[in-house]
Amino acid sequence: MSAEHYQSTYIQEQFAARIGGSNYGKDTNIYKFEKIKRAKAAAKKAHPDVELIDMGVGEPDEMADAGIVAKLAEEAAKPENRGYADNGIAEFKHAAAKYLKEVFSVDGIDAETEILHTIGAKPALAMLPTVFINPGDVAIMTVPGYPVLGTHTKYLGGEVYNVQLTKENNFLPDLNAIPEEIAKRAKLLYLNYPNNPTGAAATTEFFEQVVAWAKKFNVVVVHDAPYAALTYDGIRPLSFLSVPGAKDVGVELHSLSKSYNMTGWRIGFIAGNPLIVKAFGDVKDNNDSGQFIAIQKAAAYGLENPQITEAISEKYSRRHNRLVAVLNEIGFRAEKPKGSFFLYVEAPKGIVGGQRFESAEDFSQYLIREKLISTVPWDDAGKFIRFSVTFIAQGEAEEARVIDEIKRRLTDVQFEF
Ligand SMILES: Cc1ncc(COP(=O)(O)O)c(C=O)c1O
Repeated sequence: MSAEHYQSTYIQEQFAARIGGSNYGKDTNIYKFEKIKRAKAAAKKAHPDVELIDMGVGEPDEMADAGIVAKLAEEAAKPENRGYADNGIAEFKHAAAKYLKEVFSVDGIDAETEILHTIGAKPALAMLPTVFINPGDVAIMTVPGYPVLGTHTKYLGGEVYNVQLTKENNFLPDLNAIPEEIAKRAKLLYLNYPNNPTGAAATTEFFEQVVAWAKKFNVVVVHDAPYAALTYDGIRPLSFLSVPGAKDVGVELHSLSKSYNMTGWRIGFIAGNPLIVKAFGDVKDNNDSGQFIAIQKAAAYGLENPQITEAISEKYSRRHNRLVAVLNEIGFRAEKPKGSFFLYVEAPKGIVGGQRFESAEDFSQYLIREKLISTVPWDDAGKFIRFSVTFIAQGEAEEARVIDEIKRRLTDVQFEF
């Protein structure tokens, strides 16, 4: 029996208002990622012999390092690792503290009280509002961005105040433009650098401003940093916690998903203010029973070997270089990001003498339909599309071929920017 069948039963009447109440599932709006999925399926059907180049995927194209996989196999075989992990093992916490010191020069993190493992950054973002948000409280989010903390804030009867990330402001939020009335009601400020989708990086000066602003308005800062170690061209990875006073105002979320090609493994950590970490631990303890100890041990091995991430960064850096060069030849104004695997470029206005693109989504749909190139559009603050350099390609020659193919497909039309 299908889900639709049950829409006519009492089950449909029982849904909570936060997910749409009795209207749940009847919304005819199709969400962005579903539209992309459908357009990809239609394009493949229309052109079964043409390779679909997928630049839309937000996760690594390769598997985890062989040493990490071997460690998992070894630890998974030990009977003592079989049980509930609860709020985590000391070995992982110590590896995380050492990683913060080695990669980000963050001193003085107490592994016992200031770090806790998470089953990835996403569930941590989903739980943090439970720690802080009462009905009517505000969470400040940045758009375009990763919405999970805002979604849960709304689930709890809180409000979301969106701050736009614009090119003019280097995709950093202008904290001074947040109305005082909002700042005073805000409990949480969500930040994410290097940023998904803009690829922008924060600066020490910006983080210093964040600390001062948070102290002025008594706001808790959540810095979501799953891309923090993926930086390019000698730019040092930057942690919010490396800025004086950061630990007084907030926490940072790290994840092995992107920096260690471990999206499916579900492991990361929260670090920072010990009182926030403690309260988060209490809420977490009521949500999950911890990640499998063998995964924590394999992840600890990964954190002790940050050169694994450096090799991954080198690959993305090389891919970004090629893609930026090709897009600029075509007429885009592409700039290599400081970090992350995302390249965020302004969509063209249209095709010279032809079709107009009213939105980034319009352009992205055109790229899938006509060129079999998949990207993700963002219309929240200007019209941009996001390329991800995690496209499938084994080795440099194959990478070059894929990017040359993009160039070939996009040079038979002239875009108007
Ligand atoms: C900004 C941001 N935060 C969090 C996540 C989720 O990371 P994790 O796999 O650690 O849950 C993602 C994944 O796409 C992301 O882009």
